This record gives sequence, C-alpha cells and structure tokens, in this order.
Amino acid sequence: MKRIFSGVQPTGNLHLGNYLGAIRNWVRLQDEYECIFCIVDMHAITLWQDPKELTRNIREVTAGMIAAGVDPAKHIVFNQSMVPAHAQLAWIFNCVARMGWLNRMTQFKDKAGKHKENASVGLFAYPNLMSADILTYKATHVPVGEDQKQHLELARDTAQKFNNDFGVEFFPLPEPIIPPEAARIMSLRDGAKKMSKSDESDYSRINMTDDADTIALKIRKAKTDLEPLPATLEGLEGRPEASNLLGIYAALSGKEKIQVVTQFEGKQFSDFKKELVDLAVSVLGPINTEMKRLMTDTNHIDAVLRSGAERADAIAAPIIREVYDIVGFLRP
Ligand code: TYM
Repeated sequence: MKRIFSGVQPTGNLHLGNYLGAIRNWVRLQDEYECIFCIVDMHAITLWQDPKELTRNIREVTAGMIAAGVDPAKHIVFNQSMVPAHAQLAWIFNCVARMGWLNRMTQFKDKAGKHKENASVGLFAYPNLMSADILTYKATHVPVGEDQKQHLELARDTAQKFNNDFGVEFFPLPEPIIPPEAARIMSLRDGAKKMSKSDESDYSRINMTDDADTIALKIRKAKTDLEPLPATLEGLEGRPEASNLLGIYAALSGKEKIQVVTQFEGKQFSDFKKELVDLAVSVLGPINTEMKRLMTDTNHIDAVLRSGAERADAIAAPIIREVYDIVGFLRP
C-alpha cells in the first residue's frame, strides 16, 4: 500500500514556497495515495512561539490546506500534539539515531545560528521527531520541498538502523516526492536565499493570506537585474532573481520553464511582472477568499482536526504497540 505522510509547521503565514513546493503537490497526490497531512505544532515549539499565536496559526494553516484543496473527509488532517505516538516514537529514535548524523543537519546549523549552545535540545533533535512522524504510520512516500531532503535521508537511515538493531523488517524506507518545477522557491529580495516564514522582510515572500494589492506590490518590488529576459535557459545562469521569477511563473501556470522563457524572450521585467501579478492573483485569490471564510468558523476547523487525530491515532497506536514489543518494553 502506498501511504503518504507530510507536514507543515504552524509558525507563521503559509507562503508561496509552502504552496508550490508542498501543499499543491499534496492536493495532486490525493487521488493516488492514502494521505496523512499534519500540522506539526510540536516541531513549531523548537523555537519560541507565543501560545495564543500558535493556536491561531494551527487553525490558519489548517484553513490554508483545506482552501488549497486538501480533502479532510477523504484523507487525514490533524495537528501533531493530539496523537501521542509522535512523541513516543521520537524518544525511541533519539536512542537509535547517532549524534554524528544530527550534527550534519544543515537546517539545524541555519536555525541555531552562531549561538548553538543557546539552541533548544528540541531544535537539535527535531529530525528524529520528523522521522517518527513519518514512520509511526509506516508511510512510504513523503511529498516535500527540496529543503527537507536531508531530513528524509536521516529518516531512512534511522528506519534502517532500527530494523538492523532489532533484526526485523519493520519500518519501510520512505521515499521523498519533490516537485521538480518548484523544489525551491527563492526569496523575492535575494535569489540566493530560500523563501521562508522566518525571513524578517515580508517583501521576501508572498503569503497565502496576502490580498491582490499586496501580491502586486511585492512582485513589483521583487529584486531583478537590468537585462531584458533571455531567450534560453542558459541565459538565466548567474541571474538567480530572474530565474526564480520565471520559475514561479512556470509553477503557477503549470508550464515548463523553457516554455515561459520562450514566451517572455526579450521582454522587460516591468512587462513580465504585470503578467506574473495577474497569474499569481488568479491562482491565490480564490484560495485566500476560501481561507478567510473557513477562519470565520473555528469550531468547524477544530472538529476537522479532532476527527483527523482520531483516525491518525487508530493507525499509529497499534504500530507503536508493536514497536514497544520489538524494543522489549512491557506495556499497559
Ligand atoms: P516547513 O513548515 O518549513 O515547510 C512545509 C513544506 O513546504 C516546503 N517549503 C518549500 N518548498 C519550496 N520552496 C520553498 N521556499 C519552501 N519553503 C518550504 C517544505 O519543504 C515542506 O515540504 N520539517 C518540515 C515539517 C515536517 C515534515 C514532517 C514534513 C515535520 N514532520 C514529516 C514531511 C514529513 C518543515 O519544517 O516544513
């Protein structure tokens, strides 16, 4: 059976990178796979979160996923902290994965910054919780953006080591599914940096909550260079901002990047940006409207999450019982 697990952190606004790199792909995969989509609130608190904002963000991210087309009736949508299996398996993986493996994780280095001694232990152990998220459902496929590839490799190594240590064929080795056209959407202010919720400049990203005027303003202000648009993909080399904007256009329109390059060959950025604004607003506008509508009924959102958590727990709890037996724990 092919089962998908994927997650998103409720640490702020969902942005275009989350949408094109992950959530849109989830929507597409729903027909083919059994899917479990998780709002990973326990991951979020590896960095300080204001409790009221965290609660709000959990609901807003849920609304964003549903507005984008995730179907919580057919598939499972829930928040991580409601299902105890994640924390239970994460602890066991803390004892299986090696310090050296976690020391190599580039995301920890980026997020901890210069003061590693001050980072939370949770931030360091974060990838083990992520492995537990996936493997507590024995998920076989994980649709993510490219920035999560290293964590997925760690999940595979951990699954393999668990199987070897205990002499079992228990956990599958999960495969990433990374959308080639939107693997890494870059910041609108700096083509060398990933678009991210944590960038201090709001002009660096398009949020799923942005209205049409804000989207237009951010695209107009997006960094570019002085040359007109090139005729070939090679012509984009050394032009990261141009490459990113054309890539966003391609991902939003469902075209190949080369088709978009041909479409805008020789054009000025000002002309191209107008078309990009129209396209972005036409794709994101309806999602934004639906998200706002869903946020007016938080009881409904909470009910979706509780129902999802019950269904998730029904899959995860028996797997954890088996894991406890394999490890040798006596259980209640
Ligand atoms: P998070 O919350 O940072 O991002 C959610 C998803 O969005 C993708 N993404 C991007 N894709 C393309 N371009 C970008 N600029 C961009 N920014 C973010 C991410 O790759 C991700 O797919 N650790 C994960 C959450 C997580 C998870 C899991 C994912 C926890 N447990 C288990 C899969 C399976 C994270 O922080 O994603």
